[in-house]
Amino acid sequence: MIYELPDELRLGVSGIDEQHRQIFMVTAQMRLARDRGEGEKRLFALLAFLNQHLHDNFTREETFMIRYGYDQYQDHLARHQEFAEKFAEFQTSLQCHGPSLRLVVQTTRFLSDWLKEHIGITDRAMIEFLKPLLLEAKAAGEKIWRM
Ligand SMILES: [Fe+2]
Repeated sequence: MIYELPDELRLGVSGIDEQHRQIFMVTAQMRLARDRGEGEKRLFALLAFLNQHLHDNFTREETFMIRYGYDQYQDHLARHQEFAEKFAEFQTSLQCHGPSLRLVVQTTRFLSDWLKEHIGITDRAMIEFLKPLLLEAKAAGEKIWRM
């Protein structure tokens, strides 16, 4: 499935946009599976895949927020942690009770809403702060994300 990140969620740093695109692609696959009545069958695999991608994305963002002294780091970190806790609840529910249509619907809705808000607002604010610093670092020959 080819999936493009919506324009309003592109932040202009390709290393981050590519991670977000992957996360959105999996969320779109969840919606599609739900609509085809295959959500329960695919929930284990899709959540496991998302877990890895989200972990990689959060780690990358947090590394650069620390490195470049982002003043809203603690707040951003708290939002990642809140998300991780909620996501872990879904995974625990899946492991304990198995897949259900209710869990598919809840998970898909939560992910779709959370990602739009987090990327569109919280990540965008982070990138506005980081982008000039990343460009400076790149100009100085530092090895950083692809821009
Ligand atoms: Fe973030």
